[in-house]
Formats: sequence, structure tokens, C-alpha cells
Amino acid sequence: MAKIVVTGATGTIGNAVCRHLLEQGDEPVALTRDTAAAVSRLPPGVQAHAWRQPLTEPAPAAVLDGAQAVIHLLGEPISQRWTPAVKQRIRDSRVRSTRMLVQAISELPDDRRPKVLVSQSATGYYGDRGAEELDERATPGEDFLAGVVREWEEEAARAEPYCRVALMRTGVVLSASGGALAKMLPFFRAGIGGPVAGGHQYVPWVHIDDVAGAMLHCMEDGAATGPVNLTAPEPVDNAHFSRALGRALHRPALLPVPAPALKLLYGEMSVIVTTGQRAVPKRLAELGFRFAHPQIAPALEEVLTQR
Ligand SMILES: NC(=O)c1ccc[n+]([C@@H]2O[C@H](COP(=O)([O-])OP(=O)(O)OC[C@H]3O[C@@H](n4cnc5c(N)ncnc54)[C@H](OP(=O)(O)O)[C@@H]3O)[C@@H](O)[C@H]2O)c1
Repeated sequence: MAKIVVTGATGTIGNAVCRHLLEQGDEPVALTRDTAAAVSRLPPGVQAHAWRQPLTEPAPAAVLDGAQAVIHLLGEPISQRWTPAVKQRIRDSRVRSTRMLVQAISELPDDRRPKVLVSQSATGYYGDRGAEELDERATPGEDFLAGVVREWEEEAARAEPYCRVALMRTGVVLSASGGALAKMLPFFRAGIGGPVAGGHQYVPWVHIDDVAGAMLHCMEDGAATGPVNLTAPEPVDNAHFSRALGRALHRPALLPVPAPALKLLYGEMSVIVTTGQRAVPKRLAELGFRFAHPQIAPALEEVLTQR
């Protein structure tokens, strides 16, 4: 039974990661800003410890001490209107918390440090790239999110002198309990969902179970270092994705959603659905990771039965 420290454990991905860790007999330990609130948001059996100010305080040494691994997921939600203050929080929660985490790891004695830091990243690293196939060697994009992800990865990579570092460039996570799909469902259920902004942009989707599975795979496999695309092996464009979701819900998905309407509603944040990346999981294939849900239609069916 290994102690695994998880930041952002109260969130959608963190919850799934903790459940998978418990299933395989590990001991997930959550770091959270609010231990009282965390109790109801964590799977039973996960201990919560306080890291109240992750932007300004090093992560608590006593919790990291002797941990086998750290899985670092916390971050201000992306899908909200991007006011200047929100943009600052989106960046700082990732970049500064990672700096504070790496500082704490660096200050531990050699033999008490985690062996690996599995640090969350995102396919947003690549920016808006049309139908270009993107493996981990592709160059970064230039928009706001690409800049944030680049800085976030740079901070995590500073842990390399102290432990192995895997940077999980995660795509659009399919989970019924949170994230993009949970937000789309009411529209599609009401029959008013459809292809967004022409539907040609790629959706680098990935099933939540594969997200947790691949994170644990990279935690355990000593060959997993550097960037790892965490996206299903068959990315689809937005039109295909919308049709598959409509079919899974037995609803029409024909109503096009124009980009200007989304921009009006959500401002600059709308780029997260009007643009996309055709990311492919080259490193995960090399590492021998087997996706439980490689195809979009059955993956959606499966997620929808979890509700
Ligand atoms: N869901 C996706 O499709 C997706 C795709 C690619 C990448 N990601 C990234 O993966 C990470 C986890 O995603 P998720 O969907 O599980 O997120 P989530 O459900 O929103 O949870 C994130 C957790 O981060 C902590 N947090 C939120 N705002 C914070 C802030 N301003 N400062 C410090 N901590 C904060 C919260 O934990 P406490 O309240 O317990 O402190 C929260 O439970 C995020 O960084 C996200 O950007 C997600």
C-alpha cells in the first residue's frame, strides 16, 4: 500500500484518480484548500489534509514526506467567463501552485521524496491547430491557454532534479459528473444540441476511466517522463462528436451552434469549444497503455449509463 498525494482530489478527475488508487490498494491522500468541505466531495477512505494557500505556501512537507508519488491536478475552472481576474486565477492557480509544490519536494531529504510527479497539463498546450495531427513533439500554440499550459509544464519540469516528472496533456474528459460533457447534456437532452462553429474543429476527447488509468500507468512506469498526450486514440471532429452524443441520447443533434453566438454568451472563453486539437496519444501507445474506451460511440454510451 503506497501513499499517493493527490491535489485537486475533490474535483472530477481527482475523484476518479482516488477511486482507482483505492481499488488497486494504494492510499490516496488529498491536499485541499478546505478540509471540512472536502469530506463530502472525496470518495470514502481518502484522508484530507490542508494546503490552504497553494499559490503562496509550499505544499505541506509532512504530507509529502514518504509519499510514493504526487498527482497534481488542482486548478481554477476554465469554463467561466474570462474576466481579467479570472484569467489571472486560471494561470496562477496552476503555475504558482506547481512552483510551491516543487519547492516543497525539493526541500525534502533525498530518501523521503516522492519518486514521481504526475502533473496535469492539457491539450490546450497546442492551441488552435485545425486538422493537424499532434503528437507530443508538436510545437506549442500561441493563445492564452497555450501560454498558461506552457508555463504550468515549465514549473512542473523544475522537479526533474528531484524525481521523475510526467506531464499529462489531457484532452476533453468525458465524465457524467463534471466537465464539458455535463455542461452539454442539458442542451442535447432538450434536442437543441448540434455541431458548434461549423463542426470541423477536433475534440480531443477521453473517457474519465482512461484518464485515471493512464495517470496511474504513468505513475508506475519508470519510462513515463515528459509530455504525454492523454486523449483517446480516435479523435473526432466536433460534428462527429455531436452526432454521436445525439445518438447516445436518442435526440436530434442537428441544430448548428454558431461561433458568434457563443462568443456573445461566453466571451473569449468560447474558444474552448470553437477551436480544438487533433491530439494523438503516441507516448501512451509506446508505453503500452491500453484504452478501455477507444471509440467515441461506446465511450459516450458508457459514460451516460453512469448517471
Ligand atoms: N475536465 C477536463 O476535461 C480537463 C481536461 C484537461 C485538463 N484538465 C485539468 O485537470 C485539472 C482537474 O480538472 P477537473 O475537471 O477535475 O477540475 P475540477 O473538478 O474543477 O477540480 C479542480 C480542483 O482544484 C481545486 N481548485 C479549484 N480552483 C482553485 C484555485 N483557484 N486555486 C487552487 N485550487 C483550486 C479544487 O480543490 P479544493 O477546493 O479541494 O482545493 C477543485 O476541486 C484542472 O487543472 C483542469 O484544468 C481538465
